[in-house]
Amino acid sequence: MKRRAAATRSGRPCGGRVAGPCGGRVAGRSGGRVGGASIGRVAGRGRYLWQRVAIFAVVGTAGSFLFVAAALSSAWYPSGQQAPDLSTPKGLYDAGCRYCHADDGRGVDLSTVAFNTPLPDFTDCSFATREPDADWFIVTHQGGPIRGFDHSMPAYNEAYSDEQINMVVDYLRTFCADDRWPRGELNYPRPIVTEKAYPEDELVFTMGANVDGPGGVAGAFQYEKRFLAAGQFEVFVPIGALQLETDGAWLGGIGDIEVGYKHVLAQSLDRGMIFSGNLAVKLPTGDADKGLGTGTFVFEPFVSAGFGLPRNSFVHVQTGVELPTNTEKADREFFWRGVVGTTFTAGRFGRAFSPMVEILGVTEFEDEQTVNNLDLLPQVQFTLNTRQHIMANFGVRFPVNNTKGRPTQLIFYLLWEWFDGGFFDGW
Ligand code: HEC
Repeated sequence: MKRRAAATRSGRPCGGRVAGPCGGRVAGRSGGRVGGASIGRVAGRGRYLWQRVAIFAVVGTAGSFLFVAAALSSAWYPSGQQAPDLSTPKGLYDAGCRYCHADDGRGVDLSTVAFNTPLPDFTDCSFATREPDADWFIVTHQGGPIRGFDHSMPAYNEAYSDEQINMVVDYLRTFCADDRWPRGELNYPRPIVTEKAYPEDELVFTMGANVDGPGGVAGAFQYEKRFLAAGQFEVFVPIGALQLETDGAWLGGIGDIEVGYKHVLAQSLDRGMIFSGNLAVKLPTGDADKGLGTGTFVFEPFVSAGFGLPRNSFVHVQTGVELPTNTEKADREFFWRGVVGTTFTAGRFGRAFSPMVEILGVTEFEDEQTVNNLDLLPQVQFTLNTRQHIMANFGVRFPVNNTKGRPTQLIFYLLWEWFDGGFFDGW
């Protein structure tokens, strides 16, 4: 019980492990793409090639109309050359996409086209693998603006059947052949506390507040940066304000900063599974006397895994230990976390909502006794903008056992997948 007097971690006096100034693990630390709603593969519609080509030529915005005309004109297919075969992935690509995205998928030189929007490089695995097929399907089906991209990326829903769009998306996949990069399909939505297995490029701001007990408001910034195909570095900076006792004075400041490295150890797109190992270290940057930190280094090795289930549902699990270098100042802990959730979309292509429930278990090894705490955290994550790279999540964390002195907390996060664009892009 040594820590309790000093008002330290897992939150009693310092108001719970919301956003960590009290050393408690705050708001989970890794990020998440909204589970891409997968689009069912629909059987091809028309059978008449020229009919499709003709429809193709009259749809879309004025820009895409001009493009289509150019793409299918005799200048593009000089006389004597066979027009592409629209029953093969390559033929569909050559007919519909090559004009802009180029033979090699890197995009043509912008001087050869009538727009200035930079073209994506589909051979760049770092970019290509993180996009799930469902997102590429939607952009190809509806055109760039459906995901906050430029309208120079035309819509093909009139020209190509859903089946053909699936085929051409499969063709896009051939440009990055390196399967060490985990695919975006494995990037299940991010829970508030449980750390995902998927490596991310993102910034998350989490806030939590005690609903009962002594006052505690805590925030935390978490910055994650991918490293090569399977790695990720992260920094976690908690800030907070808390009362050591109800009606007592408020104390504020920075908590124990944490740095970590994650590595994907196994992943399978077919099985919808990803598994990672992680080593994090908490540095004693927070003021232990004020209850904002532990005053010691804490090593935290853990593993986490994500699994896809039918109907856009998913599970995350995480388990690990916290090993303080000075056990006078902080307890050793064993923790385990589980999450189950599912994703709905508004309409076929709209906003994504992911309700989930986290179960958070921790065993604290104190001098005289072992304490087991169990919390539940129901929550809903939802996308905020059209590109879906800005998301929010609201949840309520409440203790299931040992409820005395463990406050219920409201928790919120705002997540920005910065690799997908600026914060104000794609609204
Ligand atoms: C008229 C030129 C043009 C044609 C033709 C075209 N695209 Fe695009 N495409 C673009 C541009 C420009 C972008 C980038 C838009 C942006 O970043 O705002 C883009 C982006 C995309 C993206 C989004 C990548 C991401 O960032 O996630 C996909 C997927 C895509 N195109 C697929 C296709 C497919 C498949 C075809 C053919 C069926 C095709 N495009 C044909 C111009 C084109």
